[in-house]
Amino acid sequence: MLGIIGMNQEMISRHVLALCLTLLLSSGFVSAESPPDSPLVIGHRGAPGYLPEHTLAAYDLAIDQGADFIEPDLVISKDGVLFARHENEISGTTDVAEKFSGRRTRKVVDGRAVSGWFSEDFTAVELKTLRARERLPFRNQTHNGRFPIPTLREVLELARRKTRETGRTVGIYPETKHPTYFRSIGLPLEEPLVKLLREFGHDNPGAPVFIQSFETGNLRALKQRIRTPLVQLLWRPGRRPFDHAATGDPRTYGDLLTQEGLAGIARYASGIGLPKKWLLSAPAGSAGEPSNALVEMIHRAGLRVHVYTFRNEARFIAAGDKQDPRSEYLRFFRMGVDGVFSDYPDTAVAAREAFLKGR
Ligand code: G3P
Ligand code: CA
Repeated sequence: MLGIIGMNQEMISRHVLALCLTLLLSSGFVSAESPPDSPLVIGHRGAPGYLPEHTLAAYDLAIDQGADFIEPDLVISKDGVLFARHENEISGTTDVAEKFSGRRTRKVVDGRAVSGWFSEDFTAVELKTLRARERLPFRNQTHNGRFPIPTLREVLELARRKTRETGRTVGIYPETKHPTYFRSIGLPLEEPLVKLLREFGHDNPGAPVFIQSFETGNLRALKQRIRTPLVQLLWRPGRRPFDHAATGDPRTYGDLLTQEGLAGIARYASGIGLPKKWLLSAPAGSAGEPSNALVEMIHRAGLRVHVYTFRNEARFIAAGDKQDPRSEYLRFFRMGVDGVFSDYPDTAVAAREAFLKGR
């Protein structure tokens, strides 16, 4: 305050404005990289509309198509190395069944019996011998067998290199998959995640990183350990986050998307991730409210809203958008959402340009 003595009115105003901006940036609510009125495009698992999900090639393409963030889902190897995969059962997106046919097993993951091949049963060296496969039968299968599966370190290195090459900040949006399960088997995800983010200089509220989770407990614990912005993912209104089920917490995702629930989330996170469906038909608890009212309610709680998942195939496009992906993006941008997870980042970027021009 001593510095204010001797300033004229204009200087004081500028000083106060700068102080407010600093506070906003450090709160994680506003990122230096993203003006609040320009929605983010998040390359969901890379650009899997074109190349197999969670490969460096798919992330690289997403960045070249203009994605602001790339999204690695995280699982872990037997020796504690974080890998980008959507599930710890990896036979749906790799050739593990052919290469390690004898390692098939059965486990209970998040309360559900699953048979297959699990990341935590393989060393990092073994996982590195695998090649990615396209998950969806109606997408391009010609890249199967070409690309290794990346570690989180490699994804961070890619984002750093592309930031340097393109002059655009490329953010990463890692999601902890099955956090309670992995902790229960002695392979927690959070410790190696925090360590790597620190190593890459991302332990700060202005970092181009969002850590996301469908569970709440690990995000609340992460809030105590790292300053990187956090995002609470929500799913079906009637379902409970797995850690709630495991600890006897009765609250469902629907309970979290109420004024009280959002106020609780705002204590540890700077945003929520929401399925498209929730904004198209307001869930129980906010029934009858138009969707932009839901976005406004989330914003009033001081939270951003990022929506998943946008895909070009007609089967994934919301009714009413005439099977036109661009029209679907525009509908959500008009609602005021702050970001979209997209399998086709180029389409999302083009729709955003049209949206920003049309305003
Ligand atoms: O993380 C946002 C979105 O990716 C959540 O869905 O199942 O694709 O990880 P999922
Ligand atoms: Ca995800």
